[in-house]
Amino acid sequence: MRKTLVVSYLARGERSKTKKILDAFISSIKSSSVESLDLCKNTPDFFTPESLSVYYERNYGGQKIDPKRESVMKKMDEMAAQFKSADIIVIAAPMNNFSYPAPLKAYFDSILQKGVTWTIGSNGYEGLMKGKKAAVITSSGGVYEGESAGYDHFSGLARAQFGMMGFGNIEIISAAGLNMFPDRADEIVAAACEKAKATAENWYA
Ligand SMILES: Cc1cc2nc3c(=O)[nH]c(=O)nc-3n(C[C@H](O)[C@H](O)[C@H](O)COP(=O)(O)O)c2cc1C
Repeated sequence: MRKTLVVSYLARGERSKTKKILDAFISSIKSSSVESLDLCKNTPDFFTPESLSVYYERNYGGQKIDPKRESVMKKMDEMAAQFKSADIIVIAAPMNNFSYPAPLKAYFDSILQKGVTWTIGSNGYEGLMKGKKAAVITSSGGVYEGESAGYDHFSGLARAQFGMMGFGNIEIISAAGLNMFPDRADEIVAAACEKAKATAENWYA
């Protein structure tokens, strides 16, 4: 059976607009086990001088590391293994300061491990997650189109990271302008919920 991993950072809990869109996606999941990782409860580690040394020696140098020293990578390794085991990844987080929230960046730093989700082959960088799908669900106060498109460092970064891992199908589902157009916020969220449902119905058909 397919496995779906839902990784969320929704610090507003039940008040979160992004959560409404995520719930719409989840309601249309079929024939898949679903595992959830709540980054509000399970905060990813940052690289420290110790863990970065282990990462370089092990993932780039191919060295066997003493288990006691290697244990500094435990949480990153567990998150990377969980990520790798899924067929469909769903990310849900709001835009914070033109990008995604810091815990989600630490999560991507945890799972983007050389030799696990990507590698460097004879033809250069190569993704190791080919054939898998990713949905990125988000909402923002502003709208990032036309001249302001360059301020959106959320969707481009997520697309680049999933692309580097070889994901062929990356769907960004965004409710944009919720603070800019408060009178239309419900309508904008409803349209994103419809897109989330349509994406899930297509993927889980
Ligand atoms: C700390 C913080 C930073 C934010 N930064 C941005 C931003 O850079 N651009 C933007 O359009 N909205 C920004 N917003 C607004 C949120 O992205 C927007 O209200 C979003 O819909 C909140 O999602 P939620 O209801 O799921 O928490 C920010 C909100 C907070 C709390």
